Amino acid sequence: MPERAPEAADPFPAWVDALQRRHRQTLTFAEVRKGLQALSSLYVERRQKVTGGAALEGAGKRAAFALYYGPAHFLLVRAIVRALGATSGLRTVLDLGCGTGAAGAAWALETCAAVDGIDRSGWAVEETRWTLARLRLRGTAKKGDAAAATLPVPPSAIVSAFAVNELDADARTRLLSTLRGAPARGVRVLIVEPLARRALTWWDQWAAAFAAAGGRQDEWRLGPELPESVAELGRAAGLDARTLGGRSLFEPGKEDDRPR
Ligand SMILES: C[S@@+](CC[C@H](N)C(=O)[O-])C[C@H]1O[C@@H](n2cnc3c(N)ncnc32)[C@H](O)[C@@H]1O
Repeated sequence: MPERAPEAADPFPAWVDALQRRHRQTLTFAEVRKGLQALSSLYVERRQKVTGGAALEGAGKRAAFALYYGPAHFLLVRAIVRALGATSGLRTVLDLGCGTGAAGAAWALETCAAVDGIDRSGWAVEETRWTLARLRLRGTAKKGDAAAATLPVPPSAIVSAFAVNELDADARTRLLSTLRGAPARGVRVLIVEPLARRALTWWDQWAAAFAAAGGRQDEWRLGPELPESVAELGRAAGLDARTLGGRSLFEPGKEDDRPR
C-alpha cells in the first residue's frame, strides 16, 4: 500500500474534462446551469426533499451534480486527507453515499487503495463505477443503504461526504453506532459536511462521539482551486465558486497514525 509516487501526473484535470464530455453530450450549458440552480436551492432551502432523494432526480440536476459538486468534493476531500496526514496505509476506502464517487476516489488515489462505494441511487452507482474506471482505481459500487454498512476489513477507511445529513435521524443513529466500533478495529473514518450549521442538528453529538474516541473536528476554507469549467458553471448559477469549504470529523483508527 504505497503512497502515490509524487511525480505521477494528477489525474484530476483529465477526469473533469471527461466529465464535461460525458454530461454535456445531450445537455446545453443553460440546461446544466438550471439544474445546478435547482440543486443548490434544494440543498439550501428544501432539505426535506433531499432526504427523499429529490436531489438526483432529472437529467439537469444529475449533470449539475456530476459537473459541479463532484469535482468540488473531490478537491475538498483530497485537501482534507492531505492536511490530516491520512495519505498512506489503506487497502480499501468505503465510500458511504458515494454519489459520483468523488470522495472515495480522492482518498483512494492518495494511498493506492481500492474503493467500495454504496449509494441508494442507481444513477450514482453507475457514475461511481465510471469514475473509478476513468481514474484507473480498483473497486466498485453497489446500491445499498449507507446506514446498514458494516466496518470494512482493515487496513481501511470509511468516508462519507455530504451524505450523513441526507439520512433520517434513525439511520444516522444506526450509522454512528457502527462507526463507534471503528477505532478498536483500526478503521479510519472521515465525515465531511458543509460549513453552514443550519441543517446539521446532529453535528455536536457526532463531534462529541468522535472526540471521546480520540478523533478531531476541523473546519476548512480553501483557496480558489476549482478548474475554470467548474467555476464558470458555479458563477453562472449564482454560487460563490471562489472558495471550497467544509467541516470534518476524523478518527485516525490507530494511535500511531494520528497527525502531530
Ligand atoms: C450530496 S450527495 C454526496 C455524494 C458524494 N459523497 C460527494 O461528496 O460528492 C449525497 C449522496 O448520498 C446518497 N444517499 C442519501 N441517503 C442515502 C442512504 N440512506 N444510503 C445510501 N446513500 C444515500 C444520495 O443518493 C447521494 O448520492
